[in-house]
Amino acid sequence: MLTIGGLLASDGKLAATDVPLLTLLAMGAFLPIAEMAMIGRRLGDTLGATRRLAAVHNEVPVVADGPGAAPRVPAAATADLKAVDFRYDHANRPALEGVSFDLAPGATVALVGPSGAGKTTAAHLLLRFWDPVSGALHLDGDDLRTYRLEEMRERIALVAQDTYLFNASIRENLLVAQPDASDEEIVEAIARAGLAEFVESLPEGLDTVVGERGAQLSGGQRQRVAIGRALLKDAPLLILDEATSHLDGGTERLVHEALDELMRDRTTLVIAHRLSTVRDADLIVVLDRGQIVEAGTHEELVGTPGLYAELVSHQTRAAATADAGD
Ligand SMILES: Nc1ncnc2c1ncn2[C@@H]1O[C@H](COP(=O)(O)OP(=O)(O)OP(=O)(O)O)[C@@H](O)[C@H]1O
Ligand SMILES: [Mg+2]
Repeated sequence: MLTIGGLLASDGKLAATDVPLLTLLAMGAFLPIAEMAMIGRRLGDTLGATRRLAAVHNEVPVVADGPGAAPRVPAAATADLKAVDFRYDHANRPALEGVSFDLAPGATVALVGPSGAGKTTAAHLLLRFWDPVSGALHLDGDDLRTYRLEEMRERIALVAQDTYLFNASIRENLLVAQPDASDEEIVEAIARAGLAEFVESLPEGLDTVVGERGAQLSGGQRQRVAIGRALLKDAPLLILDEATSHLDGGTERLVHEALDELMRDRTTLVIAHRLSTVRDADLIVVLDRGQIVEAGTHEELVGTPGLYAELVSHQTRAAATADAGD
């Protein structure tokens, strides 16, 4: 514009005073065009994100709501597995085979066994993350498939092997379990989960953001947040999957006290590698490669040669070696 305007003005075909004005107009006309190009780019990003969202949205859930079971009073729950077979997609062997056991009201049932035995799978089936290939699971006498999912999962609290935390504050991460909990209830849950001291040491206390997937917390702290959630949820059936595996001696004792209180009068399924934590269970179910190999109380099982007696003697020996090392 400047060059051509200059030439035209020098030829006398354009008033010299018009040249700056025309230049400004030309620049003004280009701005919206540049914006349109930017919108095009943004549209591309948005379309990409929408496609990814749609893929999640269109995914067919593996389990669906049942017609709904009769409403329950929040008393101790009963649950059972009846001849449950389960196999993960593409797995070459079943994860569970003919597994049956009962959780009586208020009882503590322990699942033990080597890694990969199917303990977590059994716990997840109780939460109906999947349905069994054959057999059935019941909660309070009703097949899990008759419940509406939300109604069913309201009655079960899970402290999982790896806890999922959202990139939000500790308070919000606890509220996931019980959205209408009061501040007092949250503070109480924090104290009972053995987290009070840690939360106090944080710059923003309960409002401290924990990072993507809780990256700013240690494994033990994440687990205690999960225990805090279970305490807040106050559900009649409790499932603990290796709840104390990441804890050190001092905090472990704190958390054990909290867990003992949580388990009192509540039906509990506890999965633990360390057998000292399952000694007091009403029933110990020993799983190996998806099958129940033994079941009974600690006294019954240590006395009979088998996997449980082996695991106990192995751990006692390991503990003795560790003590000798100290
Ligand atoms: N999502 C999955 N997809 C396919 N196979 C799986 C999946 N989860 C577990 N498995 C397989 O199912 C079997 C049982 O796994 P599970 O997690 O129940 O074991 P576990 O007893 O909880 O072991 P650990 O003590 O190590 O936690 C294993 O062979 C495992 O490889
Ligand atoms: Mg497991």
